[in-house]
Amino acid sequence: MMAAKDKLFIFDTTLRDGEQSPGASMTTEEKVRIAKALERMRVDIIEAGFAIASQGDFESVRAVAEAVKDSRICSLARARAEDIDRAAEALKPANASRIHTFIATSPIHMKYKLRLEPDAVVENAVRAVKYARNLAEDVEFSCEDAGRSEIDFLCRIIEAAIDAGASTINIPDTVGYAIPGQFGDTIGQLLARIPNADKAVFSVHCHNDLGLAVANSLSAVLQGARQVECTINGLGERAGNASLEELVMAVKTRADLFPVETNIWTPGIVPASRLVSGVTGFPVQPNKAIVGANAFAHESGIHQDGVLKHRETYEIMRAEDVGWNANKMVLGKHSGRAAFRARLEELGINAGSDNSLNQLFVRFKALADKKHEIFDEDLHALVSDAQPQAEEVYGLVSLEVTSKTGVVPEAQLTLLHLGAEKTVSATGSGPVDATFRAIEALANSGSTLELYSVNAITSGTDSQGEVTVRLSKAGRIINGHGADTDIVIASAKAYLNALNLLNSGIERAHPQTAGV
Ligand code: KIV
Ligand code: ZN
Repeated sequence: MMAAKDKLFIFDTTLRDGEQSPGASMTTEEKVRIAKALERMRVDIIEAGFAIASQGDFESVRAVAEAVKDSRICSLARARAEDIDRAAEALKPANASRIHTFIATSPIHMKYKLRLEPDAVVENAVRAVKYARNLAEDVEFSCEDAGRSEIDFLCRIIEAAIDAGASTINIPDTVGYAIPGQFGDTIGQLLARIPNADKAVFSVHCHNDLGLAVANSLSAVLQGARQVECTINGLGERAGNASLEELVMAVKTRADLFPVETNIWTPGIVPASRLVSGVTGFPVQPNKAIVGANAFAHESGIHQDGVLKHRETYEIMRAEDVGWNANKMVLGKHSGRAAFRARLEELGINAGSDNSLNQLFVRFKALADKKHEIFDEDLHALVSDAQPQAEEVYGLVSLEVTSKTGVVPEAQLTLLHLGAEKTVSATGSGPVDATFRAIEALANSGSTLELYSVNAITSGTDSQGEVTVRLSKAGRIINGHGADTDIVIASAKAYLNALNLLNSGIERAHPQTAGV
């Protein structure tokens, strides 16, 4: 008889560590939509943010805690009372909540970042866990930079944190330094050496600097870790975190090797990947495992022939099991308001008042006239596009672009700036270049264009183009988004959105650069 499998808890941190990718910031409304997609996938724990980082982060954690009822909602907090209070406050509306507190434990972080002796680090950790336990039943403690910490010190601080009431112990490889065999061995040693290890779930949180985040996490699972922290599309600080879709599918596909199973509804994976990519403007590389456009495409004739004869000859997973056929036409130009509202609700989109639903419906009808078949991805783009993401300092009134063989492209642009309409024209090497030059002729923002990307939201030439424009100025990096069936207009909207966000000046604290 096969032994019963342990549960592997899936802790998604797309909304917190994922948002730490430069330029990946999300609005509260977008975070709620992503959180609803994660809830639909049955993610166990959603880290919704770092409540003390900014007012916006606080509100996002609170909004996710209000909207999501089936997953546990978590907020990050440094090992400080103010952080923990703020996390607890933001989490109040949650059905089930978790406070995740952390302190660095590696010699290099303790000496140079915290400027604390190891004894003081243990004291701070214990104080923070006890403090958090007074406010929440479920407390996770992380040893930041555990991947470069000394094992004896890890054993000491983890034993103390469990005694203080932490029920999950997380071992982050913060800088992505670990190698699979060695990292798994560390987890095995911790579990064997810490006397009260059986009182907590051991978790891992791996970064991908050496491209080993998923491999390290899986190695840890084989040695007894029972929670993995991960993100959709592997989004995250620097090279990212372990990718949720790869971890979940590895454990499921190699059920013969892993003594664990997850609760994840895997057909939700591709829609969630597309949603995160659309919201952040970070495209998914075509050869990305599971969610890349080519992940199930067979190019070689021999492979195609094999798959036609017997699918398993070249396929270890079924595309439909990860949601590749979820892209069904959902609405068309004859769909009514009730069907429109119902589909938004199914996608976790709260249209708000009747008035805002009406405004969205008008946009939907205009899109359906141009595009005929409307997919879920179109609805997400439509809603993102309609959100006031920042105070609108620059609004698009009209844009006319000439593009003709043998003629230099020219854009004639009218913007609304602080209540007054201003018109300008500019030439450029192409219609988009001319449009951006025209915008800058009026805005003179002093920013640098770091990235311009266009993504077709669905297939077909009538698809909406979703454009991301990344601007930087004085050390700040901002992503602007715009969607339209006309990619030049989508580009103008994205550029203006980025300028409006730059103007909003919203600043957030970063969990790993501040002190204790
Ligand atoms: O990478 C890391 O160490 C983190 C912790 C705050 C868990 O993100
Ligand atoms: Zn991290």
